[in-house]
Amino acid sequence: MPIDVERARRDTAGCTNVTHLNNAGSALPPRQVVDAVVHHLRLEEEGGGYEAALAETDRIEHVYGALARLIGAGPHEIALQENATRAWDMAFHGLRWQPGDRILTGRSEYASNAIAYLQTARRYGVRVEVVPDDEHGQISVPALRELIDERVKLIGVTHVPTQGGLVNPAAEIGEVARAAGVRYLLDACQSVGQLPLDVREIGCDLLTAPGRKYLRGPRGTGFLYCSERLLESLEPPFLDLRSAVWTGPDSYRVRDDARRFESWENGVAGRIGLGVAVDYALDLGLPAIEQRITELAEGLRERLRALPGVRMHDRGVRQCGIVSLTVDGHDSSDLLRELRAQRINLSVSTVGQARWDLAERGLESVLRASVHYYNTEQELDRLCAALPAPRPTGLG
Ligand SMILES: Cc1ncc(COP(=O)(O)O)c(C=O)c1O
Repeated sequence: MPIDVERARRDTAGCTNVTHLNNAGSALPPRQVVDAVVHHLRLEEEGGGYEAALAETDRIEHVYGALARLIGAGPHEIALQENATRAWDMAFHGLRWQPGDRILTGRSEYASNAIAYLQTARRYGVRVEVVPDDEHGQISVPALRELIDERVKLIGVTHVPTQGGLVNPAAEIGEVARAAGVRYLLDACQSVGQLPLDVREIGCDLLTAPGRKYLRGPRGTGFLYCSERLLESLEPPFLDLRSAVWTGPDSYRVRDDARRFESWENGVAGRIGLGVAVDYALDLGLPAIEQRITELAEGLRERLRALPGVRMHDRGVRQCGIVSLTVDGHDSSDLLRELRAQRINLSVSTVGQARWDLAERGLESVLRASVHYYNTEQELDRLCAALPAPRPTGLG
């Protein structure tokens, strides 16, 4: 069933205020999500935080089942966290390293992941190797295969980068990882909620995502999928009384399920809202969501191609809802401010967020327009009409 855009917009208060093309940053939540969060905050206000959580146990438990359905996992393989980076950290820093171990990653890796790899390299003498791109700008699977040997301990890849429309070939990477018996950590921050995903088809061992982006959930939410085949061998970098049980004066036992990666205190209202956001996405259907987003993004690229001085920077065989662009003679941050003043929300990706990719391409920053299914053709026209004419570049 195609998306009922009118209905989706009626559910989304923000649609009447702004042209929101910053869904890769933080999407507009539907009313149902906001209502669920506010409802829980009211319960906390009226009867106490712990008591509210107790009363809403079923709704909290539901979040695990909903996320599991979304990505084809089991509820016991899901851990909730306050953001995607913390979820990623809990998995990554749970791995054990020996000097000389190798981490293989891609050019489009997100800054926080890259920094964690580099920190680990410094601490343990691990080697971080960036797999080259193929001619389309996606990670080269043959090059990845070539680089595999017994020292490779992790393949860590970003599915959809923050800085462009590329969709990396996650399942092909999974085949390489599986054949080599190497752990595979997929950063799915920009693909969860945007594309249909199945962790068994992809073959990843670990996957992370936030709630606020394409899932349209509350800020301050995120999750980790940890495959059950890895659960026992992956000990979180830190434990507390939620992730482990204090069994005796000198002993403790780590939980069996993925909640070993959680911590005791958390934002319950946000988590309940995340569950509602996942239900909302599942009701619409991920194939329909992807189709609508892809069509809108293609429509935007087509419009932008017709504008003088506008350059697009998206790479990859398969492209998604993130459109990266520059306008000749204009600074992307200035454009961002000017557009925001007209109630058109975009964002800017800077070289510091994706150095292995943007620096290589000589790009200091790009303007990022990220569409969601509730956006309209008229909004795309609005953006294009608001972009300025190019200015001459260089000194001539
Ligand atoms: C590809 C990618 N990975 C990781 C993150 C970090 O997610 P969070 O801010 O929820 O920690 C982002 C955020 O923009 C992202 O785009």
